[in-house]
Amino acid sequence: MPQRLTGKTALVTGAAAGIGKAVADRFAAEGARVIYADRNEAGAAEAAGSAPDRRPVAMDISDEASVERAFAELGEAGWRPDVVVANAGVQLFGHDAKAADLDLEVWKRTLDINLTGTFLTLKHSVRSMLESGGGSIIVTGSPTALNGEGNEFTAYSSSKAGGHGLARAVAAAYAKDGIRVNIVVPGYTETPLVTAISDDPESRAAIIGRIPLGRAGTPRDVEGIMVYLASDDSAFATGAEFRVDGGMTTL
Ligand SMILES: NC(=O)c1ccc[n+]([C@@H]2O[C@H](COP(=O)([O-])OP(=O)(O)OC[C@H]3O[C@@H](n4cnc5c(N)ncnc54)[C@H](O)[C@@H]3O)[C@@H](O)[C@H]2O)c1
Repeated sequence: MPQRLTGKTALVTGAAAGIGKAVADRFAAEGARVIYADRNEAGAAEAAGSAPDRRPVAMDISDEASVERAFAELGEAGWRPDVVVANAGVQLFGHDAKAADLDLEVWKRTLDINLTGTFLTLKHSVRSMLESGGGSIIVTGSPTALNGEGNEFTAYSSSKAGGHGLARAVAAAYAKDGIRVNIVVPGYTETPLVTAISDDPESRAAIIGRIPLGRAGTPRDVEGIMVYLASDDSAFATGAEFRVDGGMTTL
């Protein structure tokens, strides 16, 4: 494995499972010190394991006190991140719905984590990076932010579109401070998030039918672009969207 992230400290939210865990593991394999952040404290600890270059931190991104506490703890321990992947998110299958059928509570729960939580992650990442002299922030976006893919997921699509807008605003506001912010758009990626689709042969076939490359994505598919955006190879990229979706959003 090339060591493209040697000397960097990276924090990944939602690192107990799915895309976040794969990216965190890959960053460590590429030479970074990695912080596994998740509201699932036991899951983060298990994912981080006992290697000295990895540490877990409890962080509920929808709770500002929790985010602030985690950044303070990391700063005191000498683990201030140069790279932050704002990746944690939820999709409330079975509850999220077309607008006319959508319960306000489901809307609020989704927005609280996916949009407000991403805002709080970026707010405290930027504060920390302003003190340390810059860094790279990566927001995990979604095809549902870009096209009609999420027409039955009003809250999720709206929260992800908000995340894309937030990333662009923060990118423009802090470029002069050496803080870059980019968006990675995974396509349909088989993780615990989407078992409602992957466990149902009909739904799975229907979604794969809309992917030009003809298969589901795996968390591994998302790692390479994350390494590029975390590394200095991407020094001139900010405010941009990078799609790793098997071509789904070209349709
Ligand atoms: N899987 C897909 O098909 C897909 C496609 C596009 C985008 N995404 C996005 O990728 C990101 C990761 O998704 P995934 O598929 O790996 O999901 P996942 O459910 O497998 O993992 C999500 C992780 O986030 C954590 N989390 C949830 N709420 C949290 C909170 N409030 N604070 C801290 N941690 C929290 C969970 O505990 C879990 O460990 C999400 O933002 C999701 O919207 C996923």
